[in-house]
Amino acid sequence: MSSWLTIASVLPLPNSHHRIPLLGFGVYQSHGPTCVQSCLKALKAGYRHIDTAQYYGNEAQVGRALRESKIPRLDVFITTKILSPGIDVDATYARIIDSVQKLDGLDGYVDLFLIHSPNGGKESRKLMWLALEKAKEVGKVHDIGVSNYGKQHIEEMKEFATVFPPAVNQIELHPWCQQREIVEYCHSQGIVIEAYCPLVRNQKAHDKTLVSLAEKYNKSTGQILIRYCLQKGWVPLPKSDTPGRITNNADAYGFVIDRKDMDILDGLDQGARGAIVQAVNN
Ligand SMILES: NC(=O)c1ccc[n+]([C@@H]2O[C@H](COP(=O)([O-])OP(=O)(O)OC[C@H]3O[C@@H](n4cnc5c(N)ncnc54)[C@H](OP(=O)(O)O)[C@@H]3O)[C@@H](O)[C@H]2O)c1
Repeated sequence: MSSWLTIASVLPLPNSHHRIPLLGFGVYQSHGPTCVQSCLKALKAGYRHIDTAQYYGNEAQVGRALRESKIPRLDVFITTKILSPGIDVDATYARIIDSVQKLDGLDGYVDLFLIHSPNGGKESRKLMWLALEKAKEVGKVHDIGVSNYGKQHIEEMKEFATVFPPAVNQIELHPWCQQREIVEYCHSQGIVIEAYCPLVRNQKAHDKTLVSLAEKYNKSTGQILIRYCLQKGWVPLPKSDTPGRITNNADAYGFVIDRKDMDILDGLDQGARGAIVQAVNN
């Protein structure tokens, strides 16, 4: 089934002619020159998708790596996220354009722009979405989506959205936090699911089940966790500032976790209790 996946595999985005590389590179808590070097290392290792955010304070560094890599702009997929709105749609739009400029210069664009969190309230969610729609309309952003959204937040968008559904919902996902309700809902709507914290920030490196599967497949625990996401049809966004790990995490291909072992990993789910950042509120 997913044995033919490669590091170059992509997924179509809903209502779009753009496609998203199935493997992304996360840069949360990656700062300054380290972030530039990590992104360059990732691009050299074959990642073609970088996930940043206004909140991470490293959009300019991601942009610098993008330019320094000399990889054609069209071959790299860049995601960022808006943290909070301005006082109106225009002021919110200005915040979006500021990110686009940091990442890709005055004439640039961003592949995917997300609302980072639904937590600011309904007016905040609406302002950010309307501003993202404007940025999409003028071509500064190719696709727009959401993050940490529960079913209720996506359903609410129907009241004001012209662009619906959101292209992606980026949420915390790994065997201990599978968020099945929102995943099923998103898949039923054609919304692509992105998995943040796919490595559980290395907090499960000594979990007996995970270690035994890593031994069985002769892979690192990180590779098993990333492969798990890929086989679930999620877009994993592993982060690392360690060159050897950046390469190792990208080597999640050429093997398949069999059905029985996928079921074993599925059996580790702890629901919202298993979240290390946050589970969505449906
Ligand atoms: N939308 C949201 O609200 C949200 C929230 C959280 C994260 N995210 C996104 O998702 C990305 C990934 O999540 P995350 O960074 O929180 O967690 P993660 O990718 O699960 O884990 C990253 C941590 O694991 C370590 N690590 C990486 N590869 C490893 C390996 N092979 N062996 C052992 N340790 C390893 C890293 O250390 P070193 O760097 O020292 O190697 C880092 O401390 C973020 O960077 C961000 O882009 C989004």
